[in-house]
Amino acid sequence: WAVFAPYVIAINRLKAQRNAVILGHNYMTPEIYHGVADFVGDSLQLAIKASEIEADVIVQCGVHFMAETSKIMNPGKIVLMPDMAAGCSLAESITATGIAEMRAKYPGAPVVSYVNTTAEVKAASDVCCTSANALQVVNAMPGDTVIMTPDQYLARNVAALTHKRVVWWEGSCIVHELYTAADLRAYREHDPEVKIIAHPECTPEVVAEADFTGSTKGIIDWVHQHKPAKAMLVTECSMAANIADELPEVEFAKPCNMCPYMKMITLEKILYALHTMRGEVLVDPDISDRARVAVQRMIDISR
Ligand code: 13P
Ligand code: SF4
Repeated sequence: WAVFAPYVIAINRLKAQRNAVILGHNYMTPEIYHGVADFVGDSLQLAIKASEIEADVIVQCGVHFMAETSKIMNPGKIVLMPDMAAGCSLAESITATGIAEMRAKYPGAPVVSYVNTTAEVKAASDVCCTSANALQVVNAMPGDTVIMTPDQYLARNVAALTHKRVVWWEGSCIVHELYTAADLRAYREHDPEVKIIAHPECTPEVVAEADFTGSTKGIIDWVHQHKPAKAMLVTECSMAANIADELPEVEFAKPCNMCPYMKMITLEKILYALHTMRGEVLVDPDISDRARVAVQRMIDISR
C-alpha cells in the first residue's frame, strides 16, 4: 500500500477538484477497488449507478463497453476511460451486421444482447441482459425462440434453465472459457471441502461442477452469506483479492485466471485521465438513444 498511497491521495484530491466519480467493476485490483473507487459492482449495478450520477465526470474503471454503457445511460456527463484499449473478447466478437444475420436466420425472434457489447450492437438489439438477469430477461421475451448474443456459454447456461428455445452467437470470454470441468473435479477430489463458485460465462460443464453460479455481485454475496472454509472463485483473480480481507475465515483457492483487459486499468492511468481529462468516451447520439432503450428495458425487467 505504501507504493500506492501517493497515487490514491492524488487521485482522490483530483476527483474532488474535477467533481468526478469513479465507478469500478468488481475485477479491478484492490488498490483501485478499495483505494479510489466511489462505487463498485457488477455490470448491472454499474449501469444503474451510471444513470444516477450527478457529478460532472465519470471515470470508468472497467472495460470499454462499460464506459459506453455509462455514457448511454447518462449522456450529459463526461465519461473517461483510463485506457481506451481495455476491450473485451465478447464485445469484439459481434457487430450490428452479426445481429442482422441472426434476425434473418430466426425471423421474429427477439434479440437479447449481453451488456458486453458495443453501443452499435446494443442499438441493434431488442433488450440487453447481464449475468445477473439473463434468465429473467429471456423469460420475459415474447414468443418461443430467443436469440442471445454474443456469449454462447451464457446462452447455453440460460438454455438449460428456461422453457424457451435459445439460439446463440458463438462468442466467448477468453478468461472464463479457460476453466475446465476436469480441472475442477480434480481440485474437488484433492480438497473435498472446497466450495466451487462459478461465473455463467464458464462452459455448462464447468457450471455443472459448481456449488453456485452467479454474476460477480452474486458470487461476492454468496461467499459473504455462506462463509465456506474454502472457496474457489471460478472467475477473475481480483474477485478473491478484493474480498479476502473482509472474510479472514475463508481460504481462497488458487489458481484463477486474469482478464488482460481489466488489468490495463491502473492507478497511474486513472491519475493521468483525471489530470489531463483525456480519454473521453463518446457515443453517436442516435445510436445512444436506441441503445438506451435496450439497456433501460433490461433494467425495468430486472426491477
Ligand atoms: P458481471 O456482470 O457479472 O460483473 O460480469 C462482467 C464481466 O465482464 C465478467 O467477465
Ligand atoms: Fe470480457 Fe471476459 Fe474480460 Fe469480462 S473477463 S471483460 S467478459 S474478456
